Amino acid sequence: MRSLIAKLPPSVIALLLQAAAFAGMLLFSRATAMRMPPLLFALMCGVLATALGRIAGLAKWWLLIQLLFVPALVLMLSLGLPPNFFLIVFLILLVVYWSTFRTQVPLYLSSRRIWEAMELLLPPPTPDKNFTFIDLGSGIGGVLTHLAVVRQDGHFFGVESAPLPYLWSWLRIRLGGYRNCQVQWGSLWNCDLLHYDVVFAYLSPVPMDELWQKARREMRPGTVFISNTFAVAGHPPQQTFTVDDLHHSTLYIWHM
Ligand SMILES: C[S@@+](CC[C@H](N)C(=O)[O-])C[C@H]1O[C@@H](n2cnc3c(N)ncnc32)[C@H](O)[C@@H]1O
Repeated sequence: MRSLIAKLPPSVIALLLQAAAFAGMLLFSRATAMRMPPLLFALMCGVLATALGRIAGLAKWWLLIQLLFVPALVLMLSLGLPPNFFLIVFLILLVVYWSTFRTQVPLYLSSRRIWEAMELLLPPPTPDKNFTFIDLGSGIGGVLTHLAVVRQDGHFFGVESAPLPYLWSWLRIRLGGYRNCQVQWGSLWNCDLLHYDVVFAYLSPVPMDELWQKARREMRPGTVFISNTFAVAGHPPQQTFTVDDLHHSTLYIWHM
């Protein structure tokens, strides 16, 4: 049972625990014939879901979501907003974040300082050879389009799974006339890294171990793997580069 739970994404575990807490509170109020105002009932659901989340080993920030989820639902419903409002917000979040509940890699963007630092990490220009670069999870294409302008001798590729960021980057590249740049809608796990001289990723701690294994399997000797912010446990990079942006982001660099 525990190993089954460990395989589920935290969002699914959290939802199951919310349902369990709600059912538990329903049984409790029936058994005691206690009449509670909806907000108090919701708060007690939140407390119970938080306790269950703690037992299940959810991260701290999930516990806060567990506590506030049902009370926030009750407060939102009390505003009497039209049901279409919730549908529209849901659809917008769906096309922006897509499978984040499963991948645990949401959309957030590398800073301009990171784009500029990346310029220094590309292969030096040579008269007879172009190089290839891929951004795994390319978001709205900022890294790609910036580098495509400063390095006309590079071919810049992106892969993005979320529909709206993909569409945004596709339009950005098309309308901006970036001829050495292209983006594809799909999963980074289906990309063969053999084709690239530089592989860049800005994801989350969750996929880093698996991504490292993939990079080791597929990347050619002499190519470069760069991760923004997220290191790989047990595999220290040969080089790091910290930039002066809002988060003091660090680039981790491995020469394969
Ligand atoms: C943190 S953002 C980074 C965006 C961009 N690379 C940058 O540095 O500004 C991570 C992106 O990876 C995308 N992503 C997550 N898992 C993915 C997968 N398996 N395949 C392709 N894209 C993925 C997310 O949708 C998100 O847009």
